[in-house]
Amino acid sequence: MNVLILTGAGISAESGVPTFRGEDGLWEGHRLDEVATPSAFERNPHLVHRFYNERRRSLLSESVQPNAAHIALAEFEAAHHDEFLLVTQNIDDLHYRAGSRNVLSMHGELLKAKCLDSGEVFPWQEDLTMETPHPRDPSQQGRLRPHVVWFGEMPFGLDLISTAAQSADLFVAIGTSAVVYPAAGIVDLTRADCRTVEINLDDTPQSTAFDESIRGKASVEVPKFLRQLTAT
Ligand code: OAD
Repeated sequence: MNVLILTGAGISAESGVPTFRGEDGLWEGHRLDEVATPSAFERNPHLVHRFYNERRRSLLSESVQPNAAHIALAEFEAAHHDEFLLVTQNIDDLHYRAGSRNVLSMHGELLKAKCLDSGEVFPWQEDLTMETPHPRDPSQQGRLRPHVVWFGEMPFGLDLISTAAQSADLFVAIGTSAVVYPAAGIVDLTRADCRTVEINLDDTPQSTAFDESIRGKASVEVPKFLRQLTAT
């Protein structure tokens, strides 16, 4: 059985990473076009850096750890013998920390920085500013940006995602509001005989496109669902 998983901010909510559109949603207090577009970065790089610096520091704080849902996915993958791909829209590193291996971070990674000139990507845990020296040439400053996908930019790995969707026998979307494309359209790329399951606290605009809806917390429902799957 080939398995494709899609995760969104809901899977990390119980780890202490705020979702985008919840009550404590990240965009609150910041308009999307102030912090998450290429033109926002051109206009006000300080604000954009500050926004992502806060997210990065919080992600690296002791209190943020993978939860039972991240761990269950990693354990399932380790025991699974056919194709397995975990596509995440999250820019946190919680799937990697939980031990997942075949992860595609389609919206980039907060703990990486990208050179604006060469596109080279570096592991990054510090604040980024317009004074940050370039790791290869410290005389160059302010030429790094967060390695995240902004609105108007192309997500990573779309060909791989489309191939995986077409060969999947099981597609599970976990903790995503299904309003941001192309991620929200992955369910439509799966074959008609692919079993599709949505796990979320609430209904989403794509709920009717799935065969099954499981309503509840990811930390409870994901381990339960995967246990049932391996038992059958
Ligand atoms: P959202 O914040 O839009 O949605 C989070 C979803 O998780 C909602 O549908 C909640 O109902 C659900 N949820 C919250 N807590 C949950 C829990 N404990 N268990 C299960 N479900 C829970 O986050 P995303 O769908 O990930 O893109 O947002 C998609 C993209 O929009 C992000 O990747 C980001 C953002 O703009 C970019 O930055 C490019």
